Amino acid sequence: MAIFPIRTFGDPVLRCEASPVEEITVAVERLVEDMIETMYDAPGVGLAAPQIGVPRQIFVGDVGDGPFVMINPVLVETSGEWEFDEGCLSVPDRFWPIKRFGFARARGLDVSGEEVEYSGDELMGRLLQHEIDHLKGGLLLDHLSPMVKKSALRELREEALGVKPLA
Ligand code: NI
Repeated sequence: MAIFPIRTFGDPVLRCEASPVEEITVAVERLVEDMIETMYDAPGVGLAAPQIGVPRQIFVGDVGDGPFVMINPVLVETSGEWEFDEGCLSVPDRFWPIKRFGFARARGLDVSGEEVEYSGDELMGRLLQHEIDHLKGGLLLDHLSPMVKKSALRELREEALGVKPLA
């Protein structure tokens, strides 16, 4: 198993649409193990493959009930609304109050190729929506209001360039 560096904002792989996994090979199984290890090391409650530079439709998560994986996941049901101070390992040390669906259900495959469903509200619902966003090239920044997003992007770009903010 191996721990991978996590790609951060500005890396183009985070903005790519991930491609579906056609066949679950030994390499895919190994990737999933490495993703789980990388997620725990971070530490985070979820990690999508593009975040370690692999643009494939795979994410792992653990909201406290043990690790799980979804391959080629799709959201099949959403309802309600919930605001939560959301963060992302690819936009480290920043949190914004973001409104999303309160409940979400996703369907995909596990590492044996069996169809699996995960669902929940609060943190689980949030995780499913957040990670599936990553697989479409989305980031939590896309859910900010235009004004908040503009200032967040400016700060992140300045940080990436090593420019110190004035205040
Ligand atoms: Ni994230």
